[in-house]
Amino acid sequence: MIYAQKEDFFIMCGITGFTGKVPALPILLKGLESLEYRGYDSAGVTLVTEDALFTQKRKGRLADLESSMDVPSFMQTTGIGHTRWATHGVPSQLNSHPHTNEKETISIVHNGIIENYQSIKEKLIALGYVFQSDTDSEVIVHLLDHYYQGDMMEAIQKTVQQLNGSYAICVVTTDHPDEVYVAKDSSPMVIGHSENGSYCASDIPAILEYTKDVVILEDGQMAKLTPNGVAVFDFAGNALETKVTHIPYDMNAAQKGGYTTFMEKEIYEQPVAIKETMRGIIDHGQIHLPQLDAVDMQKIQYVHFVACGTAYHACLYAQALVQKWLGRIVTCVAASEFRYGNYPVNENTLCVFVTQSGETADTLAALKMSKEKGAQCIAVTNVLGSSISRYADQTLYTSAGPEIAVASTKAFTTQLVLLTLMVFDLAKKEGREIADGDAILKDLQRMPEIVKEMLEKAPLMDQYAHFLDNQYDAYFIGRQMDYVGVVEGALKLKEISYVHADAYLAGELKHGSIALIEKDTVVVALATEPSVAAKTISNIEETVARGANVILITTQQQDAPGFKNVIRIPDIHPVLATIPVTVLLQLFAYYAAVHKGRDVDKPRNLAKSVTVE
Ligand code: G6P
Repeated sequence: MIYAQKEDFFIMCGITGFTGKVPALPILLKGLESLEYRGYDSAGVTLVTEDALFTQKRKGRLADLESSMDVPSFMQTTGIGHTRWATHGVPSQLNSHPHTNEKETISIVHNGIIENYQSIKEKLIALGYVFQSDTDSEVIVHLLDHYYQGDMMEAIQKTVQQLNGSYAICVVTTDHPDEVYVAKDSSPMVIGHSENGSYCASDIPAILEYTKDVVILEDGQMAKLTPNGVAVFDFAGNALETKVTHIPYDMNAAQKGGYTTFMEKEIYEQPVAIKETMRGIIDHGQIHLPQLDAVDMQKIQYVHFVACGTAYHACLYAQALVQKWLGRIVTCVAASEFRYGNYPVNENTLCVFVTQSGETADTLAALKMSKEKGAQCIAVTNVLGSSISRYADQTLYTSAGPEIAVASTKAFTTQLVLLTLMVFDLAKKEGREIADGDAILKDLQRMPEIVKEMLEKAPLMDQYAHFLDNQYDAYFIGRQMDYVGVVEGALKLKEISYVHADAYLAGELKHGSIALIEKDTVVVALATEPSVAAKTISNIEETVARGANVILITTQQQDAPGFKNVIRIPDIHPVLATIPVTVLLQLFAYYAAVHKGRDVDKPRNLAKSVTVE
């Protein structure tokens, strides 16, 4: 087993660029096609000659863009392309990339999030710039226009100094029709060269057909591509040596970033996904969630969290936080049950609907009912412009990027992060004191690093997963907030390995289920909640006495004498422990499924998005 670890992940839009001796359009389209598996909502290209830019964009599929153009008739040898995964502004033709300046002499594509785009936009509007889209990206092209005086590299240097956030940008101009410029910070960009010309892309699959020797740009680097080669510079304009990386794998493996499956890739994307989700929300110790300003907490008597599957488990977590911090009557209800349970839903109710896809039929139906009854409705989703965001009063977005594997991983951990921030902010807005509030926010900001530490435990989780080689059942136990990790860990194992797994409150075991524990039964026990950890450990001992094979996940401090298989999570505030614990359990389920030869990305009988009730 190879335990990969990559730092710089692509989790949002797709970018391609080319300048060379052959027509650019087929290369741009093919590159975008190879990034298509990730999902996107619109696509576009710009082709360049010294006379004009030709830009074409379409909402929807790449095939729609392609069929709207007579591809062989476009002979331009320079261009840029983009598939968009919306983050600011709904999917639409106007919000699609590329974006061009008013004179149509400069065109750009962008991947990432410009956090300070609003303030830049205001300044540009004051200078007379007119905006066509709702995107954060459009500020880049107008900034370039503002700074450009004949030298595009210089204009890019000045532009990037204005940008906060993450970006990989790709620029063309009619003034230099055989050049493509790129710059990046915190979003990936690769460049390469072959005898036909020079290529750039947001990810390796898009250029792998032309060259296996690529330059992976580092943060703070920019590059100039010409038909004859590529040159790399820092943001001060100093020329840098190009570091070539040989890619040993094929296109199929490249789409998975060198990982064996999408699920594995998505598990490893979590540090970046969590960082992206927090980006722009926590600033100087303050939470910035303006969507919550519209919630009138004075009126709220009841809070309901409603969702399906893994998202429902995120709701269990949020429910516990509301209980701790918000002092309201709170329920967590499966969306398929919500409409039939006679829950109090009226204008004094806050309903929060959590859904990765934003399209789950049961969740949508529950939202519609709640709206009809006058409740204040917030959606938490990963897909901008999804149905849930259109119906809800307010939407908060996780920025996990497209999740392809059926079993949810990075969407779940980013939901936990966002829901923590949401409940925290609602409590603060009411002037409530949150015990250890500052420490919790600090630990949240450390979460990408903590998750990375958990990913390093992959070999150990692989070894523990072998305990299931000859077992048909597993039991997950824990108390209080550990119960969230327990139910999600058991679900992950069932979904992808088909091992029957039950989740129990540790104290409940003795009221029945302990009858099932026998020699070598696998018990995964979570004891990260200090107030009850010792009690959980007593419950585990009851299973050990009956021959169980126990894997214990606990804190650095917890006494656990006599246990063989103990994993200790890094020091972190207990309310956040579910996040690192979940990552360990994802790895456990993943390796159990791999050992059993399962189709990890597409488990039997399951669909990624369930759009029927
Ligand atoms: C399906 C998927 C689950 C997912 C659930 C809810 O059942 O297989 O992985 O958790 O739907 O999906 P949502 O998109 O609403 O979060």
